[in-house]
Amino acid sequence: MFMNFRRIHKCQCVQLLTTGLALCMMVVCWEELDHHVVSHMRSYTYRYLINSYDFLNSSLIITPSHHHNKDGSNRVASGPVNYPYLINHPGKCGGGDGRTWDDVLLLLFVKSSPENSERRQAIRDTWGNESFVWAELGVSVRLVFAIGVHPDVEGRSKVQRALLQEDQTYGDLIQQNFVDTFHNLTTKLILQFHWSQTYCPQAHFLMSADDDIFVHMPNLVKYLQHLLSSQSGAKGLWVGHVHRGAPPVRRKDSKYHVPYALYPWPSYPDYTAGAGYVVSGDVAAKIYQATRLLNSSMYIDDVFMGMCAKAMGISPQGHVYFSGEGKAPYHPCIYDHMITSHGHATDVRSLWQAATDPKTYRHSQGFMGNVYCTAVRVMLLCTPYYQNTYSCVAAFT
Ligand SMILES: *[C@@H]1O[C@H](CO)[C@@H](O)[C@H](O)[C@H]1NC(C)=O
Ligand SMILES: *[C@@H]1O[C@H](CO)[C@@H](O)[C@H](O)[C@H]1NC(C)=O
Ligand SMILES: *[C@@H]1O[C@H](CO)[C@@H](O)[C@H](O)[C@H]1NC(C)=O
Ligand SMILES: *[C@@H]1O[C@H](CO)[C@@H](O)[C@H](O)[C@H]1NC(C)=O
Repeated sequence: MFMNFRRIHKCQCVQLLTTGLALCMMVVCWEELDHHVVSHMRSYTYRYLINSYDFLNSSLIITPSHHHNKDGSNRVASGPVNYPYLINHPGKCGGGDGRTWDDVLLLLFVKSSPENSERRQAIRDTWGNESFVWAELGVSVRLVFAIGVHPDVEGRSKVQRALLQEDQTYGDLIQQNFVDTFHNLTTKLILQFHWSQTYCPQAHFLMSADDDIFVHMPNLVKYLQHLLSSQSGAKGLWVGHVHRGAPPVRRKDSKYHVPYALYPWPSYPDYTAGAGYVVSGDVAAKIYQATRLLNSSMYIDDVFMGMCAKAMGISPQGHVYFSGEGKAPYHPCIYDHMITSHGHATDVRSLWQAATDPKTYRHSQGFMGNVYCTAVRVMLLCTPYYQNTYSCVAAFT
């Protein structure tokens, strides 16, 4: 009797304690959670019900009187500051001196930083290998890296010497004279669109990518060729991992903090994750025009890209095999379809090896292979056990 009573008592105690603990946790986390949920709800309502897309207004347009050229001259309509090129390759895509433009399917613009030479080398040796794409896939791509100058003034000249040496060997660095920092990423975005409009305007597609992503080049090329041969051609394309109705982060301690003065609306326009996206040539030209008209103080480059696109009436389209922030699961049934995967600073080479080896794909051939791979993808993408990049929908494509 007595023992029994004590047991019940103990059980209740544990229950009470657990409840108390859970309540405490909730109180602690609530503010954070609440803020997050509420801002997302506000963003969505604003975005899709109340304001139905007409938010960004003319307050973002810079008027000619606002133009400040670095050299103090009074050229009108120069758009944002154009930093001078320190390293450039005007002939990368042909053109110039009366030469004809090369037929470039895809211009690969990788956002890199001065000190990331190892990542650049890994890309050159794998998915960015122009000769491989030409030899194996029969199309022409161009690879260039967008960089600024090293932020550390003391170490700068040493890093710069190494960069010049690297560029002597590979001839693929594009550097402008701005400090390469997180808050200058929009400047880097403008560099990319300015350069491609000036030196590679004929490229059918432009891809902007981080230097720690993996791109399954054969799959990407197949996809782009398919688009080119389709009825509508490849116009108005902006494809990637789309963020819809994202709210600005107003918490001051966040890396992505955006004050109201910089962006007053509760919702960003739709944009693709900056890790890797592709635009068609006509879209690249329009985005370039927009960068010259809009105030570029929005330092989050993918959001700024969304603002430019919005201003030009372009909307992004999602593709289930472009990843956002996450890493794809390692499996041949995923390699079969993947286009981009994020967070591969160190394993790009082994992944490339696996993804381009024909032996990798022998289990996914034929009807049974298809069934097998669908089952594997459901396991990898649709179960909460794995943290993944691609949505469950991707398992069934
Ligand atoms: C633009 O929108 C902001 C915030 O909603 C508003 O304060 C401002 O008056 C608007 N400007 C114009 C020119 O419509
Ligand atoms: C690039 O591809 C070509 C053709 O497939 C190959 O011969 C070459 O070794 C590759 N380069 C590197 C650095 O892997
Ligand atoms: C961006 O680069 C410019 C030119 O070097 C520099 O003046 C500015 O401080 C940089 N901005 C940030 C936020 O680092
Ligand atoms: C761009 O917007 C910022 C604030 O968001 C403002 O301080 C700056 O003056 C604007 N620049 C131009 C050129 O209009």
